[in-house]
Amino acid sequence: MADNDKGKGLKRGLTNYGDTGFSLFLRKSFAKSMGYTEQDLERPVIGIANTASGFNNCHRSVPDLIEAVKRGVMYGGGLPVEFPTISLGEPYLNPTSMLFRNLMAIDTEEMIRAQPMDAVVLIGGCDKTLPAQLMAAASVNLPAISLVVGPMLTGSWRGERLGACTDCRRQWGRYRAGELDDQQIAEVGSELSTTAGTCMVMGTASTMALMTEALGMMLPGGATAPAVHAERLRIAECTGERAVQIADKRLSPDEIMTPHAFSNAFRVLLAVGGSTNSLIHMTAVAGRCGIKVDLGALDRMGRETPVLVDLKPSGTNYMEDLHKAGGLATILRELSPFLHLDCKTVTGRTLGEEIESARTWSQDIVRSIKSPLKPEGGIAVLTGNLAPETAIIKQSAATPELLVHEGRAVVFDSLEDLAERIDDPDLDVGEDDVLVLRNAGPKGAPGMPESGYIPIPKKLAATGVKDMVRLSDARMSGTAFGTIILHVCPEAAVGGPLSLVQEGDRIQLDVPNRRLNLVVDDRILEDRRSAWKPPTLPVGSERGYLRLHLDHVEQAHQGCDLDVLKPRSSGAITPE
Ligand code: FES
Repeated sequence: MADNDKGKGLKRGLTNYGDTGFSLFLRKSFAKSMGYTEQDLERPVIGIANTASGFNNCHRSVPDLIEAVKRGVMYGGGLPVEFPTISLGEPYLNPTSMLFRNLMAIDTEEMIRAQPMDAVVLIGGCDKTLPAQLMAAASVNLPAISLVVGPMLTGSWRGERLGACTDCRRQWGRYRAGELDDQQIAEVGSELSTTAGTCMVMGTASTMALMTEALGMMLPGGATAPAVHAERLRIAECTGERAVQIADKRLSPDEIMTPHAFSNAFRVLLAVGGSTNSLIHMTAVAGRCGIKVDLGALDRMGRETPVLVDLKPSGTNYMEDLHKAGGLATILRELSPFLHLDCKTVTGRTLGEEIESARTWSQDIVRSIKSPLKPEGGIAVLTGNLAPETAIIKQSAATPELLVHEGRAVVFDSLEDLAERIDDPDLDVGEDDVLVLRNAGPKGAPGMPESGYIPIPKKLAATGVKDMVRLSDARMSGTAFGTIILHVCPEAAVGGPLSLVQEGDRIQLDVPNRRLNLVVDDRILEDRRSAWKPPTLPVGSERGYLRLHLDHVEQAHQGCDLDVLKPRSSGAITPE
């Protein structure tokens, strides 16, 4: 039950003038200036979070979606009212969009809470937007329903199908290796992102959309319909109509986002070979519900959850293909034995009922559980003296031969150091070495940028080296691939063991046994620890949002939320 329901519609949360009758009179009077009738103003109010922005190409269809949502709200008997929030367009934000996810969550939460609405439609999509909105919805606990903009369609270059952004990285790698010239890479750049919508591989946006549908916060089929498909508008209309119904029934997020529902979402993350970022985001959303994510349990879940979906970067296809194959329902049907089918969804029905009623047909994008794409889930959780609070690897996108590896550390102290030296012809590096990047975590960079995809040094790329073991406290785009260890916790900037690694140290990776170790004597490490000094704080960190972030951001295994935004733990744990 929502806790914020004093009055309904425009009567909710009156502005405080010391006279409630006057407050309502004034509010209605001003609302009438927008052409509403008295009758309109008696309807349940459905807020629509508008995340359109000239700095967010993924969301350029949001105005059309808002019109469709409004239609649905009015068919349902409600009054649709859109309101703006921060929008986060992934490639436009400096130093990284992740720094602002929590800011968007604060903005969205406070605007839902402060303004008079009975339910809210959250229109998100681009990487950080959907998690920020779910975090807000969990904290306000007002009836809420997610609608994503949907994935882009693929482009084509000289007969080759292309999509953002696995192919961005692959083609850029070819350019760096001298296989493509300036003209060719410019042509590729025009074909990677060709429509409205989010990246159409199994990156963060696609993974979060699928997890949100599995979580029960989105209408069935809502994750995969392409942004420019008419089905996307129909989903938007139905979402608006459903928003009125959940307002009426007061179906609040805490009835949907339960530990079992998060288990279902994490199961999907593993089965789709999803983005590692989604693990951080869903951990933050669960945290807002007072639920702790047990990474050991997630790893055990991964061992019994095969990767079923043949999409890039783990496979070969794109989101439009998954949509044609039946979308999430096709995946859930295969995963049924592992799911909590009795979880209630935003439709008011259970996940099991939704799977039952979904249509099915022959397809080859979602494999059967008996002949999966990969036998184990996409993400493995590592521990060891280099990552006492865990690190992760997306093993489904790694080179199998490198999953057990020992190599010499080649260390980059910061993003600037990396940019300066990685392509230096004199860099002492070989293909068996382990590239280490540090001070790129939640506090270190700050904001934990997607720089874990350390480029292969140019001189090695030119000889045909495609992958090396790479290791950092950073994140990585969900669209990237390679043998890349991420989210090393605690990060170097707070004195984690990563800060003690020196050039030439041996690093052992053993993914089957989930180990990540620095082969250096404990006493030597203690000496290095005594000499360690924290890195200089970034410019601008003495005030404002950056100060708030640095003072309160938590580590990756805790979701990178700000500690002051989380409720007290309920003691509940997921996955279970
Ligand atoms: Fe928006 Fe990839 S840039 S989802």
